[in-house]
Amino acid sequence: MFRLAQRIKVSGLASSRSVRSLFTADKYPVKRGNYSELNAEDIKYFESFLNSKDLLTDKKDLDAVNVDWMQKYRGQSKLLLKPRSVSEVSKILKHCHDRKLAVVPQGGNTGLVGGSVPVFDEIVISLANLNKIRKFDDVSGTLTVDAGVILQTADEWLRERGYIFPLDLGAKGSCQIGGNVATNAGGLRLLRYGSLHGTVLGIEAVLPNGDIFNGLSTLRKDNTGLDLKQLFIGSEGSIGIITGVSVLCPPKSNSVNVAWLGLDSYEAVQKTFKLAKNALGEILSSFECVDRASMEVVDAALKKHDMEAQQPLESMHPYQILIETSGSNSEHDEQKLNAFLENSMENELVVDGVVAQDEGQIQALWQWREGISESSGKWGGVYKYDVSLPLPVMWDLVKAVENRLIERNLQSKTDSTKPVYATIGYGHIGDGNLHLNVCVREYTKEVEDVLEPFVFEFIAKHNGSVSAEHGVGFQKVHALQYSKDAGALKLIKEVKDMFDPHGIMNPYKFIE
Ligand code: FAD
Ligand code: MLT
Ligand code: ZN
Repeated sequence: MFRLAQRIKVSGLASSRSVRSLFTADKYPVKRGNYSELNAEDIKYFESFLNSKDLLTDKKDLDAVNVDWMQKYRGQSKLLLKPRSVSEVSKILKHCHDRKLAVVPQGGNTGLVGGSVPVFDEIVISLANLNKIRKFDDVSGTLTVDAGVILQTADEWLRERGYIFPLDLGAKGSCQIGGNVATNAGGLRLLRYGSLHGTVLGIEAVLPNGDIFNGLSTLRKDNTGLDLKQLFIGSEGSIGIITGVSVLCPPKSNSVNVAWLGLDSYEAVQKTFKLAKNALGEILSSFECVDRASMEVVDAALKKHDMEAQQPLESMHPYQILIETSGSNSEHDEQKLNAFLENSMENELVVDGVVAQDEGQIQALWQWREGISESSGKWGGVYKYDVSLPLPVMWDLVKAVENRLIERNLQSKTDSTKPVYATIGYGHIGDGNLHLNVCVREYTKEVEDVLEPFVFEFIAKHNGSVSAEHGVGFQKVHALQYSKDAGALKLIKEVKDMFDPHGIMNPYKFIE
């Protein structure tokens, strides 16, 4: 019944991104805080204990860490430090705290909200050199790593031992586990393995005054007082630098299936999700949805780079879903998947589909989904909204935004002089998380004014969240009131101030 998936390749587009952004401080109304300026004495102090190649002041080295993955936010740091031990991190932070020098912790710099790069001249502290796997218990599945270990490295290491990392995302080749924890990244399989708030068992972190918080437990259960590690999960470098993480890893599944399905309405997507949960139960590991415009954007980005790939389905259905199952018994899993597919087709929910027949095809289907992030930034820039919304109204937001842009003459399918190239929706439907991307030919105030506060007001009206998984960063620090009340924001600020009384940790972001 199902065609075979075609082999496609959509990765490898990032290298040619060339949009140059202005300094964040020139683009947005933000004032430098009352921090000290870096001087020769500071550099001399850092040189006294850091290896010379771990202290960088060259423009070329700094250019890379001053600008974010989207090339939207650009800072002006003059110093990059790359400590190799927890004690080096501690000495750096203690000095910065005493001298009131502002800092930005940086992992893989794949964050999407401008949180990982400086706004002014903050010192960038990279975790890249803290990159050892510390220990693994292959009975319990608990892994302890340095914060700078790349997600994919950890996952591949675990796979050789019959386990996987409980988080997976498109940036896995560059992002670091410390960065994942600091952003509380959600990713492609949260539906199955849960959030990092559940899978992270322990955290080691250096506090702004240089003290080391040793919460690197590997216990699943520990009810001795407050669970302090939770404060660091999703803290976005605002209260300390995570240096070590222990995490509970699930066993690798022997049997993985991926299906790509075409649907004609968003109502059918919701019904199919309900059906999938009931029919696939414990083996359902991902339920992702992309709209036609998203697929067109990936397709066009490939063509722009003289690459071509056959779409997974013959027709461009308005909604397409990727369903993954992961289990231990291939016969049982296939039976379940086939029963679900037959049922969804008999009920006229799914109108077309393919099931991957081997690992290469599984990867090829995933690349259509994961390729959306890179492809949407190919047209000059992208406004990204990462929202939690009740499922029934999720795509209403995409449509409302597109209509507003068309009505105001800022988007047109036929006129390539308009600032907006496309408005697309995709995301982790299984987690109630939509990604709304407005792909633009140029960033303009006009487009921004149509998008904001409209998008945030829509989210607030439906009791959603302005950040489902990418975090607050610089981008959403002014939009928190749409998701949290004044009392909650005051408490967050009090916690931040308690950890970081001089406000040196990642200023201008996370909480005002
Ligand atoms: P960075 O970008 O370097 O930093 C992110 C934030 O964490 C910054 O505020 C930084 O100061 C802080 N930070 C970093 N390391 C530390 C540390 N050790 N201690 C304290 N603070 C630290 N996110 C999702 O949730 N789900 C997805 O599916 C997803 N997919 C993505 C796909 C692509 C192609 C890209 C580019 C990004 C994606 N992201 C996704 C966004 C991003 O949040 C994640 O890639 C990742 O969690 C960021 O990790 P990083 O090491 O790159 O952190
Ligand atoms: C995704 O789900 O693809 C990520 O969160 C990244 C993005 O939205 O671009
Ligand atoms: Zn996502």
